[in-house]
Amino acid sequence: MGKTKPGLTDTRRGKAAWVHPTAVRHPGSRLGKGTRVWAYAEIRERAVIGNDCMVGNGVYVDTGVRIGDRCNIHNKALLYRNLCLEDDVFVGPGVCFTNDPRPRANRIRDLGRNCTQVGRGASIGANVTILPDLKLGRYCMVAAGSVVTSDVPDYALVRGVPARVRGKVGQDGFAVTAKKSEAKRILKRRSS
Ligand SMILES: CC(C)(COP(=O)(O)OP(=O)(O)OC[C@H]1O[C@@H](n2cnc3c(N)ncnc32)[C@H](O)[C@@H]1OP(=O)(O)O)[C@@H](O)C(=O)NCCC(=O)NCCS
Repeated sequence: MGKTKPGLTDTRRGKAAWVHPTAVRHPGSRLGKGTRVWAYAEIRERAVIGNDCMVGNGVYVDTGVRIGDRCNIHNKALLYRNLCLEDDVFVGPGVCFTNDPRPRANRIRDLGRNCTQVGRGASIGANVTILPDLKLGRYCMVAAGSVVTSDVPDYALVRGVPARVRGKVGQDGFAVTAKKSEAKRILKRRSS
């Protein structure tokens, strides 16, 4: 195997966070080293983002949201408050983390101790909606377009509306039952 080309994350590792001039970073938010925040993103007060993260175009990170190291938050994802992501989480484009189970206009919301937690290494596909106060397990995979209404076990593959467990995936994202050679073949085809 030849050497892999270093990604952007590698070249920025250890350097101060970089924020695009059109992004809005509120006072009191914290960004770790090597983290990049792209155009039109908004990082609210007391949000904490770890090292070597990528925050895409138009992403919204609400007050007090906590994001671990090496997370990828893709374009237009909405991370509303009472949310905690562990390290190495992938959030696809257009994902919405909700926080208010009974929303009404013009009232002060008491979210109490509601908190959605996403375990290390989890991946959330494009346009997924996650209802409030749920636990998404380590290395789970949520299929594109799903609506998550209940907790997701570690390493589970869930999909659909509402999302249901459909299998088990390894840390490489493939079904644990799939032959390794088959997984390698698919990866090779996709990268060529
Ligand atoms: C779910 C996913 C991981 C594939 O899992 P898989 O188990 O390998 O799925 P397969 O491709 O073998 O398809 C199995 C079945 O699930 C269905 N399926 C696949 N993806 C689905 C999805 N997102 N929602 C609902 N059904 C889905 C397939 O149509 C197929 O149905 P069938 O058995 O009735 O024909 C993939 O489809 C997916 O959603 N990846 C996320 C992509 C994404 O959002 N990337 C973000 C960066 S752009």
